[in-house]
Amino acid sequence: QNPEIMPTPPMGFNDWSRLECAINQSVFTDTADAMVSKGLLAAGYNRVNIDDCWMADTRTEEGKLTWNETLFPKGLPWLGQYLKEKGFHFGIYEDAGNETCGGYPGSYGYEEVDAQTFASWGIDYLKVDGCHVTPTTEVEYHKRYAAWHDAFSKMEDPLIFSQSAPAYFSLWLTGSDNLTDWYTVMDWVPYNGELARHSADVLVYVGVEGLSGWDSVMQNYNYNTQLARYQRPGYFNDPDFLIVDNLELTLTEKKSHFALWASFSAPLIISAWIPDLPEDVISYLKNSDLIKVDQDPLAQQATLVSRDDSFDVLTRSLANGDRLVTVLNRGNDTASTTVSALRLGLQATESIYSAKDLWTGEAINFKGELKINKLASHATAVYRISLSGLQSLTVFPTGMIFNA
Ligand code: GLA
Repeated sequence: QNPEIMPTPPMGFNDWSRLECAINQSVFTDTADAMVSKGLLAAGYNRVNIDDCWMADTRTEEGKLTWNETLFPKGLPWLGQYLKEKGFHFGIYEDAGNETCGGYPGSYGYEEVDAQTFASWGIDYLKVDGCHVTPTTEVEYHKRYAAWHDAFSKMEDPLIFSQSAPAYFSLWLTGSDNLTDWYTVMDWVPYNGELARHSADVLVYVGVEGLSGWDSVMQNYNYNTQLARYQRPGYFNDPDFLIVDNLELTLTEKKSHFALWASFSAPLIISAWIPDLPEDVISYLKNSDLIKVDQDPLAQQATLVSRDDSFDVLTRSLANGDRLVTVLNRGNDTASTTVSALRLGLQATESIYSAKDLWTGEAINFKGELKINKLASHATAVYRISLSGLQSLTVFPTGMIFNA
């Protein structure tokens, strides 16, 4: 696994959570145009990824994949060129099994030829899902995903490899966690590709009981908090899409979703109908301070340092030595809390720290503890604490795990 392939997490668009199989050529051209006109491309959202259901029902006579010509009349190479001219990278979806989750031809046994086909269409990012992999054992998933890794290793410009393997051992299809195998998969995915989906689809958990909206975001958030130690430049845990026009989420919850994903340095992949996104959503998605945190070269994932009935406190280091503190109010009421400097791993309790509120841009000073006043239910406060000029600080261990 080569950190040069993707040093910081991807930002962009994927259709799945919003449109599922209702895709066609103009979905992607209209989305790209809107990403330009709304300033999302300039803010860093530079990928347009197609998910499932783009394919023809069968391979060509030569055994190659091809697109559905009704949905994509000008073809995927044309679409790739369109996106490239606008300044976007182009990504696509396949499956490690015999069929995709939507029932289209899978890549099992065709990894090398499919990787070449995608590259020839101008694609540089591939999500490989894990439906229809049999038997559903960790050993079999390892074999299938390693075959992709080998195919990419032979390429001069390997594709970015997004792996869904761990998700198949989480609370997902069976309704129960197989955490032993889940962790075993996590032992290899960070060395096998650049990204791994580890939990159910955000928004709708297709399983024994349906979870949607905020509960679904929180489920993926909770899974992600267990994986910080795997993340590093070149490999990112993927808690799934930003569902920014989902009707079940309030604006506060959408902003929290974004701030938590940025604190994790998670992929910021918007799954929404971007041409109709309102200005209040566009403006938080373009928050440059939070995007800078997401894209920080250290690529640390914020870890939980405390959890009580209402508040989660997470922290991480940033490349310039600053410290991030993220406070989520999981409770149902507006509430206040304090976060001690010690809790953040800062030893110099007598020091006066300067912190920037990354939502308002306001700078505040604190000594001993940071006060979080009147945080709304499901809201997230994020501060960037400057440590320049301060001495005798502890070094916060990367990937420290807090077991709630
Ligand atoms: C799975 C994945 C989703 C999406 C669909 C497509 O559910 O987790 O992200 O790719 O398949 O069928």
